[in-house]
Formats: sequence, C-alpha cells, structure tokens
Amino acid sequence: MSRKRIIAGNWKLNKTASETRRFLLTLRNKIAGMDALPEILICPPSVALETAIDAARESGIAIGAQNAYWESTGAFTGEVSTEMLESLGVSHVLIGHSERRALFGESDENVNRKLLKVLSGTLTPIACVGEMLEDREAGRTEEVVVGQVKSALMGVAHEHARRIVLAYEPVWAIGTGLTATPGQANVVHGLIRRSVGAIFDGAVADELRILYGGSAKPDNAAGLMAESDVDGLLVGGASLDADSFAEIIRAAA
Ligand code: 13P
Repeated sequence: MSRKRIIAGNWKLNKTASETRRFLLTLRNKIAGMDALPEILICPPSVALETAIDAARESGIAIGAQNAYWESTGAFTGEVSTEMLESLGVSHVLIGHSERRALFGESDENVNRKLLKVLSGTLTPIACVGEMLEDREAGRTEEVVVGQVKSALMGVAHEHARRIVLAYEPVWAIGTGLTATPGQANVVHGLIRRSVGAIFDGAVADELRILYGGSAKPDNAAGLMAESDVDGLLVGGASLDADSFAEIIRAAA
C-alpha cells in the first residue's frame, strides 16, 4: 500500500500575516522545480489564514488551522468554528495538539468532540497523540498513545474514518531537540495503525497516514520517513524557515 506523504508545518504562535505571505511566496519558488511532491500543508495562526490562502493559491500548498471548536456559532468567546474555516478555504485542521492538551486544558473528550465536529464538515482533521516523558519512562507509552487514539476516535463513523490523519508527537521530543529515533517512532506508529485497524478494518488502517512530530528537521527527516509506518512529518520549529522546510519537503519528494 503506498500512502502519499504529508509534510505539514505547525507554526504555533509565530508569524504575522505579512510574514506569512512572504514565507509562502518564497516557499512556492523553492518547490517549483521539485518532482513527486508530497502533500504540503502550512498551519499559520488563525488571523493569517486568509492571507495564507491567498498567497498559496494554485501552488499545491494547502492551508490548515491549528484548532477549531465543536460548536458552530454562539457565546464561545475566542473560539473559531469549522464552518468559518471552511468558508475561508482552509482544508485541514490540527486537533488535540499536546500544547492544547497541556496548556489549554483539552481533555480526551474535548478532542473527540472536536474530531466528530470536523468530520461532520469537509475539513481533513490531523489528530495528535503522544506520551509524556514520565509515561515513556514508566513503560506506559503504548497504553497512553493507544488510549488517546481510541478515545479520539470514539463514535467516528466508518465512512469518515478514511479522512482522518493522525500525528504521533511524543511530548518529550517537541521543541526539545530530542527526536524519537526512526525505530522508536515506527514502533509507536505500528501500534497506532493496528489499533485503528481493530476499531475500523484493515483497509482503513492500510490507508491511514500517520505523521511523526517532535524536533523533525532537515537532517533527520529522511531517516524518519524511511520507516514503513511513518507517512510524513508534522514540523514545528523547522517549518518557520522556508529553506529548512523546503529541505524537509525535498526529503519526502
Ligand atoms: P518541533 O518540531 O518544534 O519540535 O514541534 C513539533 C510540533 O509540535 C509540531 O506540531
């Protein structure tokens, strides 16, 4: 089964709208001559989404949001709905990033509600899971990660399952310069794929793209993606620089 790779940049709380435009115009030029491009996605802050969509038009670069709420409208100060994102031309949305979980109190149940809401519309969700260092050291990686996957997917209809992308981001590797080794990542990706197969079926598991995230950089990208169950990368810090992000894209091409 060959799965098309995805190289996604999660910019977190970085770049204004004008910086976003400049980055995308630069990236367009850098990827123009490349063959066999992976799917390319940039997730800027929400206030730069409209600019990003305009700057990425007809470039093959998709634009995603970093978060969305599970209600469509109403008294939910500060939130953004999936319908609002769809109407801008956003195609993807991150769900349950570990920073949302750790810093903004998102529970497994919140992540599940968000995922179900996204799937009721047209966006492609990228649902994030990953264990903390103390989980890994206590030998609880499988229990934690598979538990997060099962809880995120609770109640997802079979016909929607094929739209889901998952990202494995070990919390201890995010922004720390510590990367999971390709072998460590592949073991967990395999566990995730098997648990998705058990929930849905083998065909869904075979098609599922599972991205790795956590200090992914130009010098480790190819090694991570050489693993059988690593279908792309969710890149934080190294996606902020057009040169390094383009190098990671080249490693996936
Ligand atoms: P870094 O690549 O900066 O470690 O961040 C990873 C991440 O959280 C992507 O979502």
